[in-house]
Amino acid sequence: MTSLATLTNRQFRLAARPVGVVKDSDWQQTEETLRELTEGEIIVQVLYLSLDPAMRGWMNEGKSYIRPVAIGEVMRAGGIGIVIASRSSKFVVGDTLSGLLGVQSYWIGAADDRMASFYKVDGKAMPLPKYLNALGMPGMTAYFGLLEVGMPKAGETVVVSGAAGAVGQTVGQVAKQKGCRVVGIAGGQEKCDFVVKELGFDACIDYKNGSVHEGLKTHCPNGVDVYFDNVGGEILDAVLTRINMKARIVICGAISQYNNTTPVKGPANYLSLLVNRARMEGIVVFDYADRYHKAVTEMAGWMRAGSFQSREDIVQGLENFPAALQMLFSGKNFGKLVLQVAQE
Ligand SMILES: NC(=O)c1ccc[n+]([C@@H]2O[C@H](COP(=O)([O-])OP(=O)(O)OC[C@H]3O[C@@H](n4cnc5c(N)ncnc54)[C@H](OP(=O)(O)O)[C@@H]3O)[C@@H](O)[C@H]2O)c1
Repeated sequence: MTSLATLTNRQFRLAARPVGVVKDSDWQQTEETLRELTEGEIIVQVLYLSLDPAMRGWMNEGKSYIRPVAIGEVMRAGGIGIVIASRSSKFVVGDTLSGLLGVQSYWIGAADDRMASFYKVDGKAMPLPKYLNALGMPGMTAYFGLLEVGMPKAGETVVVSGAAGAVGQTVGQVAKQKGCRVVGIAGGQEKCDFVVKELGFDACIDYKNGSVHEGLKTHCPNGVDVYFDNVGGEILDAVLTRINMKARIVICGAISQYNNTTPVKGPANYLSLLVNRARMEGIVVFDYADRYHKAVTEMAGWMRAGSFQSREDIVQGLENFPAALQMLFSGKNFGKLVLQVAQE
């Protein structure tokens, strides 16, 4: 076995709280030699990291559903890795794990670390990046957010923004499985073509090249029953003008607002909720952790049957982390954004 002292752990730490768009100077790159394990500990070599819009929020100070990343701390990130050393009975060398690994090349600590929350995944059953997409956190968000908060019924119209992204692509496909009419909103013709032609959405509105309001009029002739909101801002406002009686709006995220240097802009058209006796409700994926296995089983079944897809956009190299993260905010990612840190 390789001596741990010969392995260098490269890390990205939070150097400063960003103001607006994250700058290179908000990161500090560090290198450490791996230490020896104590009883109950493991070392996980990071293979893939999940790059998520939420990471931008974790860099801010203030109360949220999870504590902020501290200045000087390794940046938090979910990922998949392989156990390369173990002094724990929980995991053995060679196990492939999913959990909060951080933006670094190796994770070291207690196998039962609560923050890391490791669980085993089977790379033979599915390609590993799928466990960061439809079979991971974004997929769970889409599945439970849509079904439990959106509560779509067959024949209803479901609209989803960020449609070609990690959460959006699963929302649309689950809604199709439930017999809904599905209209996506995405940036650019290529993404719109993908969700319609590859994923089976009924229509898609290209918000970068036309009016969302007009697109909704054309593609949602019977109004909107469920809106799954990933972006907030003006698109949320536009959808509010087209909702039906008793519509359900799932507040999943507001990526259009995450880099604001002014307070988040709320919807001007919120009185549409009153007129239509409609409701908006937030979703935090972790609330459904005890039922993830149900969603994974169902969606993996659809995947194996060929009636469900998940697309990943994989960027190579830990050193490209800062630039890759920015792709989420310019729409350069096409599918779930994953950073490959090491070869499998
Ligand atoms: N509540 C939860 O538990 C939970 C869990 C996971 C994710 N989320 C939220 O779900 C949303 C989607 O996350 P994801 O991981 O699936 O990301 P993603 O959709 O794969 O990537 C982000 C996409 O957002 C779009 N976007 C960026 N800036 C935008 C803007 N100003 N206006 C409109 N669209 C913009 C871009 O797509 P286009 O090219 O189409 O513009 C970009 O590709 C985020 O808001 C995230 O915070 C919430």
